[in-house]
Amino acid sequence: MSEETSIRAGRRLPDGFIIGTGTSAHQIEGAWNVDGKGESIWDRIVHDRPEKVADGTNADVACDSYHFYKQDVKIIKELGFDFYRFSISWSRVLPTGEAHIVNDLGVEYYNNLIDELLENNIQPMVTMYHWDLPQRLQDLGGWLNPMMADYFRDYARLLFDLFGKRVKWWNTINEPAMVAVGYGNASMAPCINLFGYGEYLAAHHLLIAHAKAYRVYDQEFRATQQGRVTIALDTMYHFPKTDSKEDLEAAERAMQFQLGWFADPIYGSHGDYPPAMREYIDRASKKEGRVKSVLPTFTPEEVKLIKGSCDFFGFQHYTSCQVSDDPEGNFQPWYTHKYMNISYSDCKSGKRSHIAWLNVVPEGFRNSLKWIKDRYGNPEVIVTECGYGDWKEYDGLEDDDRIHYYQTYLEEMMKAIVEDGCQIRGFAAWSLLDNYEWFEGLRSTFGIVHVDYSSPERKRTPKKSAKFFQSLIARRTL
Ligand code: NOJ
Repeated sequence: MSEETSIRAGRRLPDGFIIGTGTSAHQIEGAWNVDGKGESIWDRIVHDRPEKVADGTNADVACDSYHFYKQDVKIIKELGFDFYRFSISWSRVLPTGEAHIVNDLGVEYYNNLIDELLENNIQPMVTMYHWDLPQRLQDLGGWLNPMMADYFRDYARLLFDLFGKRVKWWNTINEPAMVAVGYGNASMAPCINLFGYGEYLAAHHLLIAHAKAYRVYDQEFRATQQGRVTIALDTMYHFPKTDSKEDLEAAERAMQFQLGWFADPIYGSHGDYPPAMREYIDRASKKEGRVKSVLPTFTPEEVKLIKGSCDFFGFQHYTSCQVSDDPEGNFQPWYTHKYMNISYSDCKSGKRSHIAWLNVVPEGFRNSLKWIKDRYGNPEVIVTECGYGDWKEYDGLEDDDRIHYYQTYLEEMMKAIVEDGCQIRGFAAWSLLDNYEWFEGLRSTFGIVHVDYSSPERKRTPKKSAKFFQSLIARRTL
């Protein structure tokens, strides 16, 4: 295909489009208590309650990237990625979480990693917080404590100060909705069971924390460092089960509850949680006889702080599901008060992975991107995560299912760009490595690079999908 035909056919990536790959500290670094690192909530929970992890493993060593990060960088370089999204372990840099005790060896590790990336012409994109809260801060209440926003701001300031001359892409918090549900049920650390209440409070403080970090950048660093800061927000796409008015409304409501929860206060113009959340949660709270809604209210100062606190939209997407209205108010295990049934298994889907929530629904990706464009005035988007995982026995070096996933999802992304006019500027494949998948342990693998957990050096071998990316990046054409 000639270059001109590829552009017209929507197969050629736009000029300046950046392609990366990602990981997170807890999932790859290992060295959980080495060189002064403090304990995180994920260290604590998998040590104390190994029965919660599908295969009983922990991330004490994981991919051991703390010792083998140069190998990671070498592979990223060979494959040709433009950027690498990794996260900093808060408790490696600040063992207690507070900014007055800095662990120099932890700082040195990230200095080395960043330098190694830059020497190899790979742009670092840093996530400040990918779920691994220092345990000491959890002991103070974690994200239920409003003070956490200040601890996070101080941590962010330190990171900008230490690394901001070299790092130009920042994600404050990874998938804050997943952090918040850790305070509503037992699906994520710290597994605090305050269902239908705790998640809203945690979310509120996460939003304020993010915005405080963003404003620190604005006031103290932006002029000299000229980087870009965002928060990484995720959603499934929610298809209505039928064309009934009730199901259509339920599907829209679900989008507001999942993505709008964090996106509306930041990117919306009305300075509040989405209207559907306000309506349904306020009503349910009243019905429960509460004095106040469990969905907190922002003060005018907080609205000002949070609104507009992002330089682009960091978006994460994997899959879609199907929803139908449930006027009786079926309490979903994840996001409460939605008044709907959510099904993963009924979703129209070409293929399924063995991971219960992972349907391969490429058009849901395009629809989500379009939803963001329509609701938030077409912001610039970088897809900070998207990827395919399966149970390890169904994954391997010849990972054609993963290639199919990326190929079809990227084709839908191109339609979002070319046909829908979405401003999508980059895409990061999740994940570089077969890493530690939280309570799934090592059972589920998402890597484009296989990791041999039986070898002490955690031997890394690129899968066929890594070569898919190598060729995509070289040709910039799907
Ligand atoms: C999103 C999370 O950010 C990441 O840590 C996780 O591995 C993937 N989803 C896959 O579940």
